[in-house]
Amino acid sequence: MLVLGIESSCDETAAAVVEDATVVRSSVVASQYELHEEYGGVVPEIASRAHERRVLPVMRRAVADAGVRLEDVDAVAVGHRPGLIGSLLVGLAAAKALAWGLGRPLVGVDHVHAHLHAASLGAEVPPAYPALGLVVSGGHTSLYRMESALGLERLGATIDDAVGEAFDKAAAMLGLGHPGGPAIDALAREGGADDRAFDFPVSRLGKESLDFSFSGLKTAVLYEVRGKPQPRQIPGKPELRVEPAPELTDERRRDIAASFQRAAVKAVIVKLERAYEARGPFGSVVVGGGVSANSRLRAALARFARERGVRLHVPQMAYCVDNAAMIAGLGCVLRGAGHADGLGLAAVPTTGC
Ligand code: KG4
Ligand code: ZN
Repeated sequence: MLVLGIESSCDETAAAVVEDATVVRSSVVASQYELHEEYGGVVPEIASRAHERRVLPVMRRAVADAGVRLEDVDAVAVGHRPGLIGSLLVGLAAAKALAWGLGRPLVGVDHVHAHLHAASLGAEVPPAYPALGLVVSGGHTSLYRMESALGLERLGATIDDAVGEAFDKAAAMLGLGHPGGPAIDALAREGGADDRAFDFPVSRLGKESLDFSFSGLKTAVLYEVRGKPQPRQIPGKPELRVEPAPELTDERRRDIAASFQRAAVKAVIVKLERAYEARGPFGSVVVGGGVSANSRLRAALARFARERGVRLHVPQMAYCVDNAAMIAGLGCVLRGAGHADGLGLAAVPTTGC
């Protein structure tokens, strides 16, 4: 089965052709980093307009790269949730028009769920179920018990920021630009970076909690960069005094990045360990989302799997961050299970997973 997938939930316009759920025939991603860089984050209206300009060329390119004709496509899959509404609508309109024009089924795909499918793209063996699923992206940090590729039970999620968002905010505080994850990763890998220079907090929440929290870590980085507010001098008066932070030298910046990354990765692994113990047994661990590109997290996950003798499925680097191959691939699985959506399929801001 050949599925064309379209992804436009945030700041990547992407299209891909995937065969039989895991064979990527083409994957085209047009990023908008340069359009949003000066604002330090994604500006929704700018994103929607860029999607509108790029979606058709990106789709044409995906079909050409795959070496197929549009008529060969068996279904059109589209990421319709979660995301920025204006952005989602552009991909959704293109997908609907194409599905209608070709007379092929339209399959709506949840972007967060698709991140869990990314590890299967180009992989030789499928995950063994039940699997423990972990999504670590810019918008989500969640754990799932996966009874099958389509049967997800959410075990925990972040109660504040997503881990990728924490990477991006920490990078912004350190003056590293957007998106910050890759910049922190690179800085932390530089020779001489001391990941124990700062003892940043690793949130655990309740003893049995499988939820995540990254706002405390973010604040701790803020204090190291901009200075720590001092305890109130006069009862009832607002905070006035901030103890200035030392100058942000290259060395200090590198050490903060490395220490932040250590704490962020630890906070993810702690919950993965808890879920593995409490909600198993699991036949495999499946990870996806932009932060799964992080070198320290990948090493920690490999260690986790090795120590437990469980198979680990992480995406190839190209399929960690947003792409349409994961949408087409999961669309293929859904279609194979008989799913199809009408042309009334709505754009939804939140995940259904
Ligand atoms: O999955 P994704 O492309 O978009 C969402 O669905 O949110 O994830 C983007 C996130 C950003 O926060 C980015 O900083 C982070 O993934 N990211 C990384 C790395 N590469 C991308 N975070 C840490 N280390 C990386 N190497
Ligand atoms: Zn994503």
